[in-house]
Amino acid sequence: MTTYTLRKGSADKVRTDLVVIGVATGKGKTLVPGPGGEPVAAAYGRGFAPLLAALGFTGGFGEVAKVPTAGPLNAGQLLVVGLGPQDALTTEKVRRAAGVAARSIGNVASVAVALPAVDAAHVRAVVDGFSAGLYQYRGLKSGPKPTAVADVVVLSDVARRADAAAALERATLVGGLADQVRDWVNTPPNVLVPLQFAAELKKATAKSGVDYELVTAAQLKKLGCGGILGVGQGSENPPCLVKLTWTPPEPQGSVALVGKGITFDSGGLTIKPAGGMGTMKSDMAGAAAVAGAIQAVAALEIPVSVTAYLPLAENMVGGASMRPGDVLTMHSGKTVEVLNTDAEGRLVLADALTMAVRDEPDVIIDVATLTGACVVALGDRIAGLFGDDEIVAEVEAAAASSGELFWHLPIPEEQRRTVRTESKVADLQQHVWVRWGSALYAAAFLEQFAEGVPWAHLDIAGPSYNAGGPWGHVPTGGTGFALSTLVELIASRAKA
Ligand code: BES
Ligand code: MN
Ligand code: ZN
Repeated sequence: MTTYTLRKGSADKVRTDLVVIGVATGKGKTLVPGPGGEPVAAAYGRGFAPLLAALGFTGGFGEVAKVPTAGPLNAGQLLVVGLGPQDALTTEKVRRAAGVAARSIGNVASVAVALPAVDAAHVRAVVDGFSAGLYQYRGLKSGPKPTAVADVVVLSDVARRADAAAALERATLVGGLADQVRDWVNTPPNVLVPLQFAAELKKATAKSGVDYELVTAAQLKKLGCGGILGVGQGSENPPCLVKLTWTPPEPQGSVALVGKGITFDSGGLTIKPAGGMGTMKSDMAGAAAVAGAIQAVAALEIPVSVTAYLPLAENMVGGASMRPGDVLTMHSGKTVEVLNTDAEGRLVLADALTMAVRDEPDVIIDVATLTGACVVALGDRIAGLFGDDEIVAEVEAAAASSGELFWHLPIPEEQRRTVRTESKVADLQQHVWVRWGSALYAAAFLEQFAEGVPWAHLDIAGPSYNAGGPWGHVPTGGTGFALSTLVELIASRAKA
């Protein structure tokens, strides 16, 4: 467990194992200490720039140099992180630099972070980034667990301001929940089967103020949830749905969250190529992010009612698997012609969206690792954002402070029409065998189940899982994407 405290103090005086500062580049490639780093540069005097230069440090963004201080500072070690050009420094760069720093601290017990924490938003970015950078999934490895840094002190001139203290508190809380989200996403798919995920959710929400309710496969059958049952029927591990509820004493409105929880996506009979299946334990990242968000909202006692619907299923190949050509009767009563069993996310989400609609919330947000096409369009660092213009704008505003990247994509009228009119055997057509724009088609399908309730759909297939090496504050594997934006969005609804 790492504890974070916010303190006013000088980076040269602070007693700690390691102190972190940022160094930017100024005119003529000179090295300029970032806000918070000045006292360190002053303590070294004229020797500072030559010292860093001797270590090959040029101030480029994300560069690091580590110095045993031996004298000028009270800290045992100095870690310098490159901030890039001084005049191009942004909050997001501070978040990423903090992540880089966290990954470079080595084996120390205490750290003081003197990165640019000039206001509450920057304090939050420092803590967000540092906490994400420290994340490591240990998995099922045997042997002793590495000890995490115990104390992180964030040095800031605005430490005594209430908004800065609140920013630290929120960032620490959300950071801890992001670790939980990442752990769930990273858990092997033979371990995190639907009912096991449900058990984890029950454990996580116990004593959190969030109510937990399990809807079993038998109950889903009674409720006519043909989408969830159809997707889950090929697996030995039965599907289920978890409903989480946060009810504040005096609610200022209501938000329904829906998260895709496919614990493994083989594609089903429309089986995936081997190369595309390897990361499909992460196909429950939407459900994980939503579960994290509702816990954060409860812990922060945000006065907005939140219900979260998490349809959990495993999309497998078996004698009982759903077939292309099957027609499912959904919870809404609508029938759906299945043409591709690998387009399973929209089927489980459809039933959950109907449940959400029945509660008559002010707004519905669904979060899903829905389409590879969205990753083709936007890459793996930007999520697709669909839905009603007002809700889309709210998500964009929330994302501006969380630092997560979304891009608004359209739902074309002709795809809506195809969803509604092209099936010869059912009310709705699940899929078209046209690759172009298939992220949009998926959104058009989901829209049918929002039934006019203000709605947004976040396709997080790209940024929810980092198959490559860590970068900035983003770890390898599950990233926790969307959690922070959801918390921000719900918090801003309380003020509205
Ligand atoms: N879970 C996948 C989407 C996905 C792909 C997530 C890559 C993360 C990384 C989803 O269920 C899926 O298989 N989608 C299909 C949709 C297609 C059949 C219309 C896809 O993207 O190929
Ligand atoms: Mn699929
Ligand atoms: Zn999937």
